[in-house]
Amino acid sequence: MNDAQTIAVEVIGIEQVTPLIKHFKLAPIGGGTLPVFSGGSHIIVVMQGAARVHRNPYSLLGSPKELDTYEIGVRRMEESRGGSHFMHDTIEVGSRLEIAHPVNLFGLDKIARKHLLIAGGIGITPFLGQLEDLHGGGVPYELHYSVRSAEHAAFLERLRRREGERLHMYYDSEGLFIPFQTLLANQPLGTHVYVCGPAGMIQHVIDTAHACGWPDSHIHWEQFSAPPVGDAFEVFLARSKISVHVPPDRSLLESIEAAGVEVPYLCRGGVCGFCHTRVLELEGKLLHNDHFLSDADKAKAKSIMPCVSRAHCRRLVLDL
Ligand code: FES
Repeated sequence: MNDAQTIAVEVIGIEQVTPLIKHFKLAPIGGGTLPVFSGGSHIIVVMQGAARVHRNPYSLLGSPKELDTYEIGVRRMEESRGGSHFMHDTIEVGSRLEIAHPVNLFGLDKIARKHLLIAGGIGITPFLGQLEDLHGGGVPYELHYSVRSAEHAAFLERLRRREGERLHMYYDSEGLFIPFQTLLANQPLGTHVYVCGPAGMIQHVIDTAHACGWPDSHIHWEQFSAPPVGDAFEVFLARSKISVHVPPDRSLLESIEAAGVEVPYLCRGGVCGFCHTRVLELEGKLLHNDHFLSDADKAKAKSIMPCVSRAHCRRLVLDL
């Protein structure tokens, strides 16, 4: 994936659905339909800011059957390096954006006997698309959705209307928490669990599922890491024969792109592995922030995922 393959869209609707989340509707410029996608897919939205380009992943939350528009939900991130603030503060109805084709890294298992969906906060968004796929199908499912308080429950009316008793709500403010242990210990054989939300919640579901004897193949999670800020460093791209400065608030991938060198990507969140890049020389250490490389590969320091990882180094040479 690179920007040559993006689609031009226009923002045709914006709604503030919680104090922190805005709901955007995007339609292709000039009409027509958008590419087919399945529940759980995301797109990369390319935002041309005044000083820099932001490329952020957002789950598609509309129906895969309705391709005249895409819908995304954007949470205003306090720690944002600019992308979510750009969407909240700059984008209005009529604004134009570029988007990458949808990619699904969080699809439903085709042979599951039951689907157990667990969402925390903005983590509800990939499930909205999945529910469109599940609704009316023959496989049982249930959704457990946890939020800080009622005002933070995005898309609740849509969920209540469609899901009825399959929706289970939990409000931190009322002391109502998802009973992970009970839930995961009492599922029929062949159930698959899917979790999206804060990192701590995802890890807790994975750990509890393991403790209850769930095989890895039945545990699915999605967590796009936002590229963290860090110290500035320099990188030399061996094939392109250029040095690139990586400032504190820009990712390694963004810095390489700004220098005119393309790196393949799908998720830009440390999940898909597409931006995998070989490290040719290193004096210092790599700061791995991805969920793709194994601990052993991270320790070898022979590769890096530039979308989220950085370095603390005197010298770094990449095979780009
Ligand atoms: S683009 Fe997916 S891991 Fe970097």
